[in-house]
Amino acid sequence: SRDPQRQNSALSFKEIPHGLDAHHHLPEDYQAEVLLRWGDPLHQGEEEFEPARLDAESQARRFGYNNDFIAFMPLDTDAGPGENIRHMASGNSERGLLCVNHEYTQPHLMFSGYNDEHSATRGVSAKHVAIEQAACGHAITEIEKTANGWQPVLDSPYNRRITLSTAMNIVGPAAGDRRLQTAADPAGKTVLGTVGNCAGGKTPWGTVLIAEEGFGGAFQGDPDNIADPVEALNHHTFGISPENRNWGDYDHRFDIEREPHEPNRFGWMVEFDPYDPQSQPRKLTSLGRFEHEGFTLVCKPGQPVVAYGGDDDEHQFVYRYVSRDNYEPGNDGHNRSLLLEGTLFAGQFNEDGSGEWLPLVFGQGPLTPDNGFHNQADVLIDARRAAALLGATPMDRPEDVETNPVNDCTYVMLTKNKRRIVANAANPRQKNATGHVLEIVPPGQYGQRDHASDTFQWTTFLLGGNPNAEEPNQRGAYGQQTPGAISPHGWFANPDNVAFDPRGNMWIATDGCEDFGFHDGLWAMATEGDLRAAPRHFFGCPEGAEVCGPEFTPDGSTLFVAVQHPADGGRSTFDNPMHRWPDNDPKLPPRPSVLAIHRPDGKPVGS
Ligand code: FEO
Ligand code: CA
Ligand code: CA
Ligand code: CA
Repeated sequence: SRDPQRQNSALSFKEIPHGLDAHHHLPEDYQAEVLLRWGDPLHQGEEEFEPARLDAESQARRFGYNNDFIAFMPLDTDAGPGENIRHMASGNSERGLLCVNHEYTQPHLMFSGYNDEHSATRGVSAKHVAIEQAACGHAITEIEKTANGWQPVLDSPYNRRITLSTAMNIVGPAAGDRRLQTAADPAGKTVLGTVGNCAGGKTPWGTVLIAEEGFGGAFQGDPDNIADPVEALNHHTFGISPENRNWGDYDHRFDIEREPHEPNRFGWMVEFDPYDPQSQPRKLTSLGRFEHEGFTLVCKPGQPVVAYGGDDDEHQFVYRYVSRDNYEPGNDGHNRSLLLEGTLFAGQFNEDGSGEWLPLVFGQGPLTPDNGFHNQADVLIDARRAAALLGATPMDRPEDVETNPVNDCTYVMLTKNKRRIVANAANPRQKNATGHVLEIVPPGQYGQRDHASDTFQWTTFLLGGNPNAEEPNQRGAYGQQTPGAISPHGWFANPDNVAFDPRGNMWIATDGCEDFGFHDGLWAMATEGDLRAAPRHFFGCPEGAEVCGPEFTPDGSTLFVAVQHPADGGRSTFDNPMHRWPDNDPKLPPRPSVLAIHRPDGKPVGS
């Protein structure tokens, strides 16, 4: 069902070289504004950022740490709070709400005097922990494109931080379950905050989905001291251990030996409404609990909503959700229930290029009391264990899973898995150091595929790595192997985040290229035609950083990227960092920041 005559519009920008230094890099004819940095005030009248004066209360009114996922939500300047459909329909590409995840904190780069000695004893202070908890979560900031480029709008009523103190509802099949109940919340329906917010997605009804990924690192305690063996195994799975950071010493709910159910209230997808600053976020238990990279949606009128997501850990799974009810464009109240009731599936990738979605439903197959599942809540809380029992295919760390809106195929970023011993068709390399990308092709014609079908075809879209590597296991494979289709700078490793421009070109962000001698960055490529899967290098990060986001305005004229953990690595600290990107000011540390990239002539990014 692939149409060989289809071509994506040409990517004609002048490629940048592989490199590694203290700066970010763009092609000729492009400019970038540093739009938001860690510590920037989000409200008028706040003081400029001064690290020594930072406290938790101030951090909660400022841009947080380690920016990751970005959603650009257009603003209709004639519409007000709650008029989501009008805002979304405006397609405004010059004014919007920039919704940005703050995945995690790094005290050695955030605080002066936090040195190796502190790291060894994990001896942070109560004040540090409170600042870190206020620096995690999410930021919503109104932005506008002016004659001087993109700028934040500091008097906007929409500007808001979500932190580890923000109250959230727990909704869906597991809400109120015994395993979600704690001393502070005996009903098991309200949790404070979100953490490990990695990638995410958007809905056509104007809400944003953010993932809880590496939440286990926030919890301390020994799972072997938990009496219930199912719960002990669950906590082990997510890396909770006495060696973890010591937030629990100051905030007791992060100590599993005091509050063994608190980790079960993390590891979900969170949905919030950026157009209603009074609204309370909610955790969607229907989408399962694991180390969520993100969930992205396919919404077609009169059909179920389909959402795809990955569990970013070695040998974990790709998931798909299908709503019980159908999507009705414009019916806001109805659509808001679509992520509450439906079926979660895990992917099985067969050796012959076919695939099946296996339903995670209590009572079906092995998901019974014999295996420790007593209701659907157990299946969703322990989704990893359920998917493994069903026979889903363990993958090489599934990061972003996203559908190309033009060709309607779904792409899975598999970042790496050095622990793989047994290769299979969908994970073809032992000790996979460079990662790869799979293409899922649901049944149906180009642009009109049936994502709700329980079967699919899949193919390898590309293998990361240098195409000329001597070691066959590390050798990359790109495109049609047209001679000269990619330059010496066109290859990359460790695909992580992905976005599609309005013309259907794929933009891959990497996390790990420094292991191969050059910066992480962005590579863009067609998904159809002669240059299918032939990448060109568009953006390079300052040393130590990975690039997250990426996100286009609806018209494709601006590309937002989140530069995460700049100057991280080696012995780099707040007091002695490897560099001070982006300010290069001796009074300021390196700061994770969002860039707005565009052409001065307004042509689409990529041209
Ligand atoms: Fe937070 Fe899977 O990257
Ligand atoms: Ca990621
Ligand atoms: Ca993405
Ligand atoms: Ca990653």
